[in-house]
Amino acid sequence: MPQPDTEGLIDLVLKQFDKKCNVLEIGSGSGVIPIILAKYKNFEIDSLDINKKAIKLSKENYYIKLPKLKGKINFIYADFNKYFFSKEYDIIISNPPYLVKNDKEISSWVKRNQPKKALYSPKEELLIFKEIFELAKKIKKDEIYIFLEIGYNQKEKLGNLLKNYNFKKVDFFKDLSKKDRYLKIYV
Ligand SMILES: C[S@@+](CC[C@H](N)C(=O)[O-])C[C@H]1O[C@@H](n2cnc3c(N)ncnc32)[C@H](O)[C@@H]1O
Repeated sequence: MPQPDTEGLIDLVLKQFDKKCNVLEIGSGSGVIPIILAKYKNFEIDSLDINKKAIKLSKENYYIKLPKLKGKINFIYADFNKYFFSKEYDIIISNPPYLVKNDKEISSWVKRNQPKKALYSPKEELLIFKEIFELAKKIKKDEIYIFLEIGYNQKEKLGNLLKNYNFKKVDFFKDLSKKDRYLKIYV
């Protein structure tokens, strides 16, 4: 189920890019991110999810609810760590499962309505971010930007982690309640 926080992430991409772009989204969920991006921009988007139901729901939302999109989306049932990427991308975008179990700030509504795998980071807190950074380095040909939604208390930890990578530029952005919730990386 899409959350209002994710709108801020989508806005960052909508504001920056007007050219035709190839986009990779990690974690389709309901398809909200690629559907909005494709509605407003001439993007070609590959959107992956490890969960079969998420892919089915995303396809329904794409084909049934918004049939006249400008851009084009391919929803792919796959684990991004195991998928063979043969395309070049300009943008990677993701609202990954970054929450830590027992976080008191997660609302009970969110806990009741979201599948656990869609919310919680597996094993180690920043693992999925590390995997996305490694993927970006591996598939980068020319230039590539990464846009990520992050936990309200992860800026410092991610800042430290990012010191291990030689990325050209790293920027954090706040959401409407002035919490650091988005990360943009120029790889
Ligand atoms: C927080 S939800 C985001 C859903 C949607 N993009 C949004 O913003 O509302 C994270 C999604 O990532 C997916 N996911 C988790 N691990 C993944 C992996 N290794 N490969 C692909 N998708 C993954 C989950 O199944 C879930 O649908």
